[in-house]
Amino acid sequence: MNIAIIGYGKMGHEIEAIAIERGHKVVLAIDKNNTHELNPILLKKVDVAIEFTTPETAFKNIETCLKAGVPTVCGTTGWLNRLEEAKRIAEQYNTALFYASNYSIGVNLFFKINQLLASLANKHCEYDVSIEEIHHTQKKDAPSGTAITIAQILSKELNRYNDWSLLPEFYDDRIPIKAIREGNVPGTHSVFFDSEQDQIILTHKAKNRRGFALGAMLAAEFSLDKKGFLTMDSLLNG
Ligand SMILES: NC(=O)c1ccc[n+]([C@@H]2O[C@H](COP(=O)([O-])OP(=O)(O)OC[C@H]3O[C@@H](n4cnc5c(N)ncnc54)[C@H](OP(=O)(O)O)[C@@H]3O)[C@@H](O)[C@H]2O)c1
Repeated sequence: MNIAIIGYGKMGHEIEAIAIERGHKVVLAIDKNNTHELNPILLKKVDVAIEFTTPETAFKNIETCLKAGVPTVCGTTGWLNRLEEAKRIAEQYNTALFYASNYSIGVNLFFKINQLLASLANKHCEYDVSIEEIHHTQKKDAPSGTAITIAQILSKELNRYNDWSLLPEFYDDRIPIKAIREGNVPGTHSVFFDSEQDQIILTHKAKNRRGFALGAMLAAEFSLDKKGFLTMDSLLNG
């Protein structure tokens, strides 16, 4: 495949290494200083675009790729207020948009375990549920997209919660999320089920960024001949 990497930062570099390992060619690498190269003419030689930039720039990049008919895999978090709009553009231009708040296979298994535990705990109101996420200090959004996905999964199963809130904001009916920024941590997420008697803690700890990059590459290979909105569920069950 001919790949465009949009956002040549920590994730962009990891993705490039995996693309080469898997026999793909990076024909376009876009960073802040050459954004003009992300245009319909240069996108003609691209089979699939992979976007990992910033919450402020993601939507415009995705829109440009989709309107050029290029299937686009996006991992940028913190821009989801425009996701529905992006899905409509993918439909309209008859191409694919793949979005995951976390491309790691392990995290997607972790989502399922959390869903199961939450469904079992629904009847046991003595358990208060909370989430903690730890990321490196350069991360621009808080809470992480992954923590928001976990909160959405949990609140769907637990009748006593309707939403999430970022601490110190706290509401009885919202799952509290604590966001910690320290060192070079690639991403650690813990979910706590806490009663007066005991505590259940589930933790996923990314050891490096390779798992995210590999998942994004699998998503890119999967998106090539697809149309519409795709997620990790489509990839793992497809
Ligand atoms: N879904 C997942 O599995 C997953 C995993 C890890 C990270 N993420 C998310 O992916 C995003 C990127 O993470 P990262 O760790 O790679 O961050 P990063 O190292 O800061 O890389 C982002 C890159 O995008 C560049 N950029 C800024 N504006 C741009 C534009 N308009 N067009 C093209 N490139 C532009 C930045 O350039 P400058 O440095 O010059 O500003 C930087 O090189 C974040 O939102 C993060 O939360 C998602």
